[in-house]
Amino acid sequence: MSLSEYYRQRDRAPSSAPGHAGPVLVRREAPDDVDPIDDLHRRAFAFAAPNGAEPVEVALVHALREDPGWVPALSLVAEGPQGAVVGHVVCSEGALGDTPAVGLGPIGVRPDVQRSGVGRALMHAVLAAADALDYPLVALLGHLDYYRQFGFVPASAMGVLAPDPAWGDHFQARPLAAWRPALKGAFRYAAPFEAL
Ligand SMILES: CC(C)(COP(=O)(O)OP(=O)(O)OC[C@H]1O[C@@H](n2cnc3c(N)ncnc32)[C@H](O)[C@@H]1OP(=O)(O)O)[C@@H](O)C(=O)NCCC(=O)NCCS
Repeated sequence: MSLSEYYRQRDRAPSSAPGHAGPVLVRREAPDDVDPIDDLHRRAFAFAAPNGAEPVEVALVHALREDPGWVPALSLVAEGPQGAVVGHVVCSEGALGDTPAVGLGPIGVRPDVQRSGVGRALMHAVLAAADALDYPLVALLGHLDYYRQFGFVPASAMGVLAPDPAWGDHFQARPLAAWRPALKGAFRYAAPFEAL
């Protein structure tokens, strides 16, 4: 199929069903995305913020942008068919002992299009991007059920220690091509996470 034929077909495609994002484009964050990303995390994490307060994830992303651990290639948005930002994920540089490694978070998808594959697309894209940058692993604190499908295991199984032992198996890690079994020890997130 030629490229022009592909675009003609795409333009004829039926509009997406309610609750489904439709085709999304995953790309790097651009300067104009800052406000839409704030809005997105406000909505995605509203469930976790008491009494309509601002979710901490909004300020966290701003603080990460100002931090030396910010890696522009690892802040990705999912753009819906009308150009709206429907998802965002960021990994920032921390360390595993003395070796640079990345921590994932936050990741958020607009509530009205959750469970339609947007988070999955963002996860695969950011893991591939971190791998291409030769980081040995991605660490995160999150749901055991959701992240296993992307190759995450309890970090302790890889000899990677959580910043807080109380996190238990919810602190997870995904080895990348540059990972070696000798890479063990305490994981440290980029500094803005410590202020949470
Ligand atoms: C978590 C989140 C990013 C997932 O994104 P999403 O676009 O809704 O997820 P996807 O559609 O890509 O999910 C892919 C698969 O993961 C599983 N899954 C999705 N959300 C899940 C959840 N909360 N718990 C367990 N499994 C889940 C499902 O198997 C899903 O496939 P399905 O089509 O069979 O339902 C999104 O729900 C979100 O923004 N939640 C609020 C913010 C948040 O909690 N962020 C994570 C902090 S740890």
